Amino acid sequence: TKTYEYVKVEQRGRVGIVTLHRPKALNALCSPLMKDLNDALRAFDSDDSVGAMVVTGSEKAFAAGADIKEMKDLEFVSNYTKNFLADWTGITSIRKPIIAAVNGFALGGGCEVAMMCDMIYAGDKAKFGQPEIKLGTIPGAGGSQRLTSLVGKSKSMDMILTGVMMDAVEAERAGLVARIFPADKLLDESVKAASVIASYSLPSVMMAKEAVNKSLELSLAEGLHLERRLFQATFATEDQKEGMAAFAEKREPAFKHK
Ligand code: CAA
Repeated sequence: TKTYEYVKVEQRGRVGIVTLHRPKALNALCSPLMKDLNDALRAFDSDDSVGAMVVTGSEKAFAAGADIKEMKDLEFVSNYTKNFLADWTGITSIRKPIIAAVNGFALGGGCEVAMMCDMIYAGDKAKFGQPEIKLGTIPGAGGSQRLTSLVGKSKSMDMILTGVMMDAVEAERAGLVARIFPADKLLDESVKAASVIASYSLPSVMMAKEAVNKSLELSLAEGLHLERRLFQATFATEDQKEGMAAFAEKREPAFKHK
C-alpha cells in the first residue's frame, strides 16, 4: 500500500480506512492533506478487494476546517482563476460508499468533508459547525447546500449565520448524523457497518449509492426514472440471482460482487 504524509491508510477485510493525520493542526485541511485524502480514496475505489470505506480523524478532531493560516492571504483573482476548493469535491466522485466516522470537532471544511461522505456516524463527543462567518467568510465546500438539505433551512441558517455548533445528539436528531456511538467504539462500529455494506453485491451497493445521491439533484420524476432503470439493471447481475435464490433456499447468499 502507498503511504501518504497527511493520511494513514489501512484495510480491514473489505473495508478501506483513511485516517486524517495532521495532529498538530487538529487535521486542518491544507491542500496537500486534501490531495492525500482524495488520492487514498481513489486508490480504494479502484481496488477490487475493497467494498466500502471509512474516513475518520482523531479523538479530538475529525477536522477543524480549511487551513486558515494557508488561506488568510489568498486573493479573489487567484481564488477564481485557480478555482480554489474545487478539487475538494473529488470525494463526491468516489463510487463506493464512504462512512465519515466523526469524533471531536468537524468544523467548516471538516463538516463539509464529512457531509461529502455518504453518511456520518458520530462519537458522543462530536461537535459540528460552520463557523466561517466568524472569520469574515462563508462556507465554501458545500456547507450552505449540503447542510441545508440534511437539516433544513432553519437549523442550517442558525449554524451558518451564528457559527453555533451542534453536538452529536442534536446532530442525530436533526438528520446530519445517522448513528451515535461512544467515542472509543466509533471506529470499530463504523468499520463493522462498512463491512456489512461491503459484504453485499458491489454493483447493487454502488447503484443504491448513486440513486440516493441523485435524489438530491434530480426532479422526482427523473429520480424515479433513474431508480427504476438501476433496479431493473440489478437483474443483469449474478448477485441478484444468488441473493434471491439464497432467500428461496433459506440459506445465506454468497455474493461474488458481480
Ligand atoms: N486552520 C489552521 N490551523 C488550525 C485550524 C484551522 N482551521 N484549527 C486549529 N488549528 C491549529 C491552531 O492554530 C493550533 O495551532 P498552534 O498550536 O500552532 O497554535 C492547533 O491547531 C490547535 O488548535 P487550538 O489551540 O485552537 O485548539 P483548541 O482546543 O483551543 O480549539 C478549536 C479547538 C475550537 C477547533 C479551534 O482550533 C478553532 O476554532 N479552529 C478553527 C475552526 C474554524 O474556524 N474552522 C473553519 C475554517 S474556514 C473553512 O473551513 C472554509 C471552508 O468552508 C472550506
